[in-house]
Amino acid sequence: MDKPSREAVAGAMDAAVKWVRECRSLCVLTGAGVSAESGVPTFRGPEGLWKRRDPVSLATPEAFAEDPKEVWEWYQWRRRKIRGCAPNAGHRALAAVEAVKPDFLLVTQNVDGLHRAAGSRRLAEIHGNIWTVRCVGCGAERYERGDFTDLPPRCGACGGLLRPGVVWFGEMPFAMERIDAALDRCALFLSIGTSGAVYPAAGFVQQVRHRGRAHTAELNMQPSEGATLFAEAHYGPATQVVPAYVEKILGPGW
Ligand code: OAD
Repeated sequence: MDKPSREAVAGAMDAAVKWVRECRSLCVLTGAGVSAESGVPTFRGPEGLWKRRDPVSLATPEAFAEDPKEVWEWYQWRRRKIRGCAPNAGHRALAAVEAVKPDFLLVTQNVDGLHRAAGSRRLAEIHGNIWTVRCVGCGAERYERGDFTDLPPRCGACGGLLRPGVVWFGEMPFAMERIDAALDRCALFLSIGTSGAVYPAAGFVQQVRHRGRAHTAELNMQPSEGATLFAEAHYGPATQVVPAYVEKILGPGW
């Protein structure tokens, strides 16, 4: 096949910029990379390890059933780290897009609550929230930002074990109906700071592509596992690439 001419490439780029600027319907997926510069450890990478254990081996119902104290010690470690973290320019830029676009959904795999702290409200926390705790006995759920002195913590009402209000491997992710609908109608799908290793989120770009009516872009530190599926990609730290891309959507000086 002949190489496309410089004019053809420039024309296609102009069309993409116009599409991104004018689109009214957006779905954005984020992962641990968007919070990395806030100080929250990512999962895959050396800083995600806790006592040399791979987080994937701890984030399971089986690990909790076997040793709830150990799983809670890991969550307490993560909660302590996250408690001192503030949203960064990447989180804030996404909240600014939400404020302007009529149809917007931010789907995050992160449980740190930093998107909400940045002002995002049209938000689906697909893996739950680390500040929520749920009783495995009576199902009571509450918001708890403080540390627990005795691990594993117990329910004040029924004495059952409390667990973090997050989704573990093998469990059903939250808000899937709402997310499916957003993926089906969006004109722009952005994937930010995720390795693309964990489903269902890793499959969202396929779902959007299958429909063939949306522009797709990946913003990440390095190519994700599904990188070749995106129409466009920008690699670098989220605090730089996200505000830069938001400038494409909202215009300069948003
Ligand atoms: P990962 O830790 O798998 O991947 C983090 C991604 O962020 C990688 O692609 C990095 O290249 C990128 N990254 C790192 N620093 C960055 C920065 N400063 N700016 C931009 N990108 C950066 O995290 P997730 O993909 O979110 O699930 O992981 C998905 C799920 O796996 C998590 O929600 C969690 C985990 O196990 C459960 O616990 C169920």
